Amino acid sequence: MTQVDVPLPQRHDVARFGATTRKDRWWLSPLLVLLGLSAFMIYTTWAAFQGEHYFFSGGGGGDAHYLSPFYSPLLFGQEGEPRWFGAPQPSWWPGWAPFSPAFLILMGPGMMRFTCYYYRGAYYKSFWGAPPACAVGGPHGGRYMGENRFPMIMQNIHRYVFYPAAMFVLILLYDSWRAMWFTMDDGSHHFGVGIGSIVLLTNAVLLGGYTFGCHCARHQIGGYLDCMSKRPVRKKCYDCTSALNRHHMKWAWVSLVWVAWSDIYVRLLSHGVISDLRIIF
Ligand code: FES
Repeated sequence: MTQVDVPLPQRHDVARFGATTRKDRWWLSPLLVLLGLSAFMIYTTWAAFQGEHYFFSGGGGGDAHYLSPFYSPLLFGQEGEPRWFGAPQPSWWPGWAPFSPAFLILMGPGMMRFTCYYYRGAYYKSFWGAPPACAVGGPHGGRYMGENRFPMIMQNIHRYVFYPAAMFVLILLYDSWRAMWFTMDDGSHHFGVGIGSIVLLTNAVLLGGYTFGCHCARHQIGGYLDCMSKRPVRKKCYDCTSALNRHHMKWAWVSLVWVAWSDIYVRLLSHGVISDLRIIF
C-alpha cells in the first residue's frame, strides 16, 4: 500500500487553550454546536415547565389527537387528555414543587442524547473545550484523562439507555398513528391526515433513524458476533443499523430540530395561533 507522509507541525505550547497551527476555521463547528444545543436546551426547558398546551384535540371536521413528543407518553394529565393514569399529577409529587408531565418523560430521551457517542464528542469540544478541536490546545493541558474515572465514566450507561429510548420511539410511532384518527361528533373515529399527522409521523421516523443508528444498537443487534454469515435475518438488521449509523450525526441534528418543531406545532395549534390543514379526510 502506498504511504504518504503528511507533515503536521506541532506546537510546544499545546497545553495553552486555543494553541494550534491549524489555518482552517476549526472553531466554526464547535461554535455551531454550542449555539444549536444551547437553543434546544433553553426551548426544551421552557416547554417542559409550561405544563399545558401540549395536546391539541380540536379542528374542523373531526377533532384531532395531537400530543407533543415532549409529553409522550402522557402519564399524568388533565381530564380529556390521553393520560395513562387518571390524575393530573402523581400523589407522591411534593406539593411545594411545580409539576409538569414532561418532567417524567424528558429524562429518558435526554439521557440518550447526553450520553450519545456523537454528542459527547461534539459538546466536549464546544461546551468544555476539551479540546475545542483536533490538534488545538484545550484548557486541561495534558491532564485530561478522558472518561476513565468518575463522574465521566458514568457515560458508559449509554448502552443501557438505548432500550428505553427504543421504547419511546415505538410510543411516538403509536402517537403518530393515533394522530391519523379524528374524533367525530358521534364519538366515532375517522381516518384522515392533517399537517399535524405528518409532523408527528416525521418526528417518529427521524427519532427512529437516530435511535436505531446508535453505535450501541449496532453492537447489540449483531456487532458482538464473530460470524454473522449463518444468521441472515440478524445480518440484515445489522446492515440496516449500520446504514443508519453511517449518518448518525445527521440523524441526531435533524431529529433534534424536528422534535422541537413538533412541540412548537402542537403548541401553536393549542393556542389557536394556527389551524391544522386536513390533507386527507
Ligand atoms: S451513539 Fe448516538 S445515540 Fe447511541
